[in-house]
Amino acid sequence: MQRPTYALINGNILKENIIEIKKNYPEYEYYIGVVKNDAYHHGIYVINDLIKGGVNYLAISSLEEAIKVRKINKNIPILCLEVILLDYLDLIIKYNITITIESLTYLKKLLAKDFNGLIKVHLAVDSGMHRLGFDSKKNLTEAFYLLKESKNLFLEGIYSHFATSGIKDPYYDYQLNKFIELTNDIHLEEIPIVHLGRSRTLVEHKKPNFCNGIRLGIVMYGFNQSLDINYDSLKGKYQFWKIRKMQKKFRCSPTTITNCLKVKPAYILYSQIMSRRKVKVGDFVGYNANYFIKTSGYIYTICIGYADGVDKKFDYVLINSKKCKIVADCMDMLLVFSQNKYEVGCKVEIFGEQRSIKDVCRTLNINAYHLFNQISNRVTKVYVNKDKIKEI
Ligand SMILES: Cc1ncc(COP(=O)(O)O)c(C=O)c1O
Repeated sequence: MQRPTYALINGNILKENIIEIKKNYPEYEYYIGVVKNDAYHHGIYVINDLIKGGVNYLAISSLEEAIKVRKINKNIPILCLEVILLDYLDLIIKYNITITIESLTYLKKLLAKDFNGLIKVHLAVDSGMHRLGFDSKKNLTEAFYLLKESKNLFLEGIYSHFATSGIKDPYYDYQLNKFIELTNDIHLEEIPIVHLGRSRTLVEHKKPNFCNGIRLGIVMYGFNQSLDINYDSLKGKYQFWKIRKMQKKFRCSPTTITNCLKVKPAYILYSQIMSRRKVKVGDFVGYNANYFIKTSGYIYTICIGYADGVDKKFDYVLINSKKCKIVADCMDMLLVFSQNKYEVGCKVEIFGEQRSIKDVCRTLNINAYHLFNQISNRVTKVYVNKDKIKEI
């Protein structure tokens, strides 16, 4: 690592998260780890930790991602959630990738192709997200029977995706009922894997009895999706009214509030002090001389900037456990102010250890999905597990 700016990824924590999830929710047969965009930017290398923890299927976005994953693990089944271009059937067969069938038109084009080998497919059902999938019962039923007759395609799974859950429950219920209605004329029990839920659904809703799979995303990476309301700490009448108020605000049902899942984030972002200079009252700092020094102290130049996904909006960084205000940002550097004197080369925490990811998300008014994905690929990932450290 030539630049001392890195994300420290702890594979063991991810493994423990899966163990904890399976301990709390043992009722599924298929725990499908969603490892899109390099495992929510943790680095694709972590998939083996997820598998060790008990994930027994993976889901990714594109064929490119699927091939990358297959090179790391030869055996785990991999489902592509995006629609794959039919020009690449040879790669799908070669790398044993399960594909999504999202419409009758697509299926008919696939059936018209001349290819050798068997392809596993999952049917996507649009129950209300309106992104991908069958939204017509007639077409879905026709697809089911066409697949039953096919010699080259094996209908291994069927799934849908919830737009909401935990909050805005009526829409969750609507989607569930819509799925049931759309699949009324097919034999769900003949399809080996039925998976509807995602992280939030897992923790906020009971497993529908016809489902045997769950897609785990953000929960695996340490976010239990709880609404952060500790009802037990509220007493008597106040507790009753508080619950009523929250249910109204988030339109959630009494069963969809908290969970006691103990999962932990496994991602810490660090950088380093690259330079230090003394500044006095009246000095200006940064582009456009935007920041005006009101008390004398030091400006520290940190080797991380908005090209890495970190800018002034993060508000502060931690040096020696002390908050230091970010006063200016540049493409590759941040300028932070402190009255304390620190040495060049000193480690700087951006987030993840003493500053929680939740806190950064609150400051930036984004969620953890966006935060992970906004850290750019040029930030080196350092993977740690019990006994090994590796740059990825
Ligand atoms: C189809 C599908 N399933 C599951 C997930 C995982 O979602 P979550 O991280 O909320 O569990 C995603 C996330 O992008 C998705 O697109």
